[in-house]
Amino acid sequence: MPTDRADPEPLTPYQYPNPPEALPEIVIPNAIPTDERLWVPQAENVWFRPLCLNASQGYWMNLLRVRKSGVLSRHRHPQAVHGFVLKGRWKYLEHDWWAEEGGYVFEPPGETHTLYVPEDVQEMITYFQVNGVMYYTDPYGKGMGYEDVFTKIDMCRKHFEEVGLSADYVKQFIR
Ligand SMILES: [Fe+2]
Repeated sequence: MPTDRADPEPLTPYQYPNPPEALPEIVIPNAIPTDERLWVPQAENVWFRPLCLNASQGYWMNLLRVRKSGVLSRHRHPQAVHGFVLKGRWKYLEHDWWAEEGGYVFEPPGETHTLYVPEDVQEMITYFQVNGVMYYTDPYGKGMGYEDVFTKIDMCRKHFEEVGLSADYVKQFIR
């Protein structure tokens, strides 16, 4: 709440508990992991690292990692996506611009695109918030499958089990 009064106790923490219905926070010290097992394979040369799999609101926060000549298949977004490039660069085949290291991207609802990482980029990592679904299509918009927060949770569960972290390892990322 905006106020024009100075706070008489600026360094006093809030004195009450959060609402009992509030979900626990997620704190991940090494968001870009050195443990290779935390990267969930998605396609050839494409992985994601879950940070928050928000089942209660239907979105997911993740790092997408693509190594040279990797492609994230053509898909449509019915809801907005936010991206922040942490490493490397990439482009959408449908646009002229490049997403470069340190850059921010907003993808509006209705956008269909194909994410491409060129041969000369050894590795790109981008932090993405993806809302709703990624609806995979052929070049003419015909549906070929989808991903949502629940398919992402399922992929993580299977992968973490396979690499010996246990299926339950995904639970810490779910809210
Ligand atoms: Fe996308």
